[in-house]
Amino acid sequence: MAKRVIIVTGASSGIGAATCRRLAKPGVSIVAHARGGTDGAKRPALNSLVGELRDKGAEATAVFSDLSDGMAADLVSEASKCFGQVDQIVSNAGFALPTLVGDLTRAEFNRSVEVMTGAFFDLITTARPQLEASPCGRIVAVSSFVAHRSPAGKLFPATAAAKAAIEGLARSFAAQTACCGVTVNCVAPGFTRKESSGHSALSEGAWRAAAEATPSGRIAEPNDIAAAIEFFLSDSAAHITGQTLHVDGGLSLV
Ligand SMILES: NC(=O)c1ccc[n+]([C@@H]2O[C@H](COP(=O)([O-])OP(=O)(O)OC[C@H]3O[C@@H](n4cnc5c(N)ncnc54)[C@H](OP(=O)(O)O)[C@@H]3O)[C@@H](O)[C@H]2O)c1
Repeated sequence: MAKRVIIVTGASSGIGAATCRRLAKPGVSIVAHARGGTDGAKRPALNSLVGELRDKGAEATAVFSDLSDGMAADLVSEASKCFGQVDQIVSNAGFALPTLVGDLTRAEFNRSVEVMTGAFFDLITTARPQLEASPCGRIVAVSSFVAHRSPAGKLFPATAAAKAAIEGLARSFAAQTACCGVTVNCVAPGFTRKESSGHSALSEGAWRAAAEATPSGRIAEPNDIAAAIEFFLSDSAAHITGQTLHVDGGLSLV
């Protein structure tokens, strides 16, 4: 495969970090993005991941930004500056907010949409010319089961709205760019294990209930989700676009 430059957002832990690890090899350049924690505490984790990716033969750089500040477009400029092109994007950064309507403020709702849907929009808008010119233009957005259902009594209204909007935007952009060979797909994880540094919206007991509510009897590992993302980025998935793949141990079946 020719050189590929890939932007992965939310790479300081969990699904984003697992995705970077799977993608890292010679010929691949990775812009690994994260906020670095609310207080900068996760900056070392992203810097150390970049070291790991380089050890595997990839080119890699870390970029820190808070996507609630509308900084997503800068990632595309940074990738072009560092590696000369952008071929693929994994729009993964996000979080789950369990606050119910009634308690949910408009500011919290807006923030969920800005960090997840808004960042996805900015990334695809800014990178579109480069993706269309690439021989392997690919976009994968990480959605969520919460856009489709509310298992184990868990409700995340702002997250559900932001993720459902991502899926709609992805389908529309898939139709727009299919003629240029770009594919745009979503991966919708079920309940997925958080690293200790991850941002969990559930208690220990709720994670146990989540595993019990999942037909496979376990929650996903970040690597389960990363495998699906890697597939959508690969040459093997060149004719698949506009799809949402649920990687959830059967959660979407019940
Ligand atoms: N885990 C699950 O059960 C589950 C289920 C369905 C969907 N998902 C989705 O999967 C994606 C990855 O989640 P994960 O489980 O891997 O969680 P995680 O380990 O907490 O990782 C989330 C990543 O997103 C970044 N992020 C969060 N808010 C940000 C902001 N305002 N600006 C920039 N970056 C921000 C975090 O950066 P820092 O930590 O460095 O600040 C981190 O790198 C998310 O979109 C999530 O909604 C997860």
